[in-house]
Amino acid sequence: MPAIAILGGQWGDEGKGKVVDYLAERAQAVARFGGGSNAGHTVINEKGEFRMHLVPSGVFYPHVTCIIGNGVVLAPKVLLEEIDLLGGRGVDTSRLFVSDRAHVVMPYHILLDGLEEEARGAKAIGTTRRGIGPCYVDKAARLGIRAGDLLDRETFRKRLAIALEQKNSLLTRVYGHEPLSADAVFNEYAAYGERLRPFIRDTGLLLEAALERGEWVVLEGAQGALLDVDFGTYPYVTSSSPTIGGAFTGLGVSPRRLEHVLGVFKAYSTRVGEGPMTTEMDKQMGDRVREKGGEYGATTGRPRRCGWFDGVAARYASRLNGFTGIVVTRLDVLDELPSLKVCVAYKVGNETLEHFPASLPLLERCQPVYEELPGWQTPSRGIRRFEDLPARARAYIKRIEELASCPVALVSVGPQREETILPRPLF
Ligand code: GDP
Ligand code: IMO
Ligand code: MG
Repeated sequence: MPAIAILGGQWGDEGKGKVVDYLAERAQAVARFGGGSNAGHTVINEKGEFRMHLVPSGVFYPHVTCIIGNGVVLAPKVLLEEIDLLGGRGVDTSRLFVSDRAHVVMPYHILLDGLEEEARGAKAIGTTRRGIGPCYVDKAARLGIRAGDLLDRETFRKRLAIALEQKNSLLTRVYGHEPLSADAVFNEYAAYGERLRPFIRDTGLLLEAALERGEWVVLEGAQGALLDVDFGTYPYVTSSSPTIGGAFTGLGVSPRRLEHVLGVFKAYSTRVGEGPMTTEMDKQMGDRVREKGGEYGATTGRPRRCGWFDGVAARYASRLNGFTGIVVTRLDVLDELPSLKVCVAYKVGNETLEHFPASLPLLERCQPVYEELPGWQTPSRGIRRFEDLPARARAYIKRIEELASCPVALVSVGPQREETILPRPLF
């Protein structure tokens, strides 16, 4: 019955793709439960380097079934391009399935994402402009079109007419944009539907059957806890729930199936887009880490903002998700630094904050309280056993464990699949 969730503990890009690719060897299924093509999950293995936006990172194993769950917002064109790209590079995608309940990202969602960002001006969120927010809005507004709708021309035409009536009036009257042609959108998306027909089904049933057979199912998170629409740095968040609850509603799987919840953390912090980041490094250190770590977004290519490890945020993410273990990635990026800061508390004036605040103005006033730890200044990429890590690197990880109130389950010392340290067997 076991499911294992792999969740982002920070602002996304923690290395979830790499971790899922590593762990999926021992699983029978990998399921994405939320977000959409705003995600960019990098996998580097013997087949090459891949940046996955929608296809689960378990696709490289012939024995693994991959599922795109109902909680995902699906950009059909992106998915089809990804399927073609994978196929062209010798990766079999015949075990990929898409939930008939997944909402479809329509052209007006992408248009509106851009127009809304422009309208926000200096207050822009810095979205990926992939139509994610507007698509989830329509899901909640009961105006959405689901993958299953694309397969029935009559239903699709009706649903599209209802949506376009509202969207075209918004596009033309509020934004002064050209209206979209119902026929053009219908023809394009009905054709995507035909191509996706073999993949679309009730994926909840597939997952339930696998779990019932006692197979390991990896629930692949996208984004991270601090981008969660409820718990993140609102309004600088995404529009879905990358925390554990999203895994159940996004797949139709019961919480009783869950055996492990792993939180993936970089050994430091990064963030793409706008919004508060209490431990953001000064420009010189930020540039140094960005260049060493190649910190540019996998989806938009934007430079990622770099910061020190934030223990307050990590403890918060751990509490929200009930992490049973944490994964520390990109330890190697810190190899050369003579000393490292970790944030152990926030201060506002003379007051110390115990908890990650909900209020944006308060969070923006928070100052980090740092502890400084000595760097190890030894290469870590070749190391495969925890006890072979330099003592100072182990001390750094121990401090992260304490701050996150959770034991380390995996350490990553490079982007390749095998550049991984598993201190003890997981499953
Ligand atoms: P995801 O969105 O959480 O899957 O993460 P991304 O793929 O967007 O970003 C993580 C980046 O770090 C990718 O370029 C990975 O190849 C890379 N990566 C993952 N783990 C490690 C690691 O331990 N060390 C280094 N140097 N790079 C890593
Ligand atoms: P993975 O799965 C990093 C960020 C965007 C922006 C905010 C809202 O690769 O970790 P959206 O397009 O979702 O409305 O943008 O969320 N964001 C991510 N940042 N990694 C991601 O995914 C992200 N998905 C969204 O940069 O700040
Ligand atoms: Mg990413």
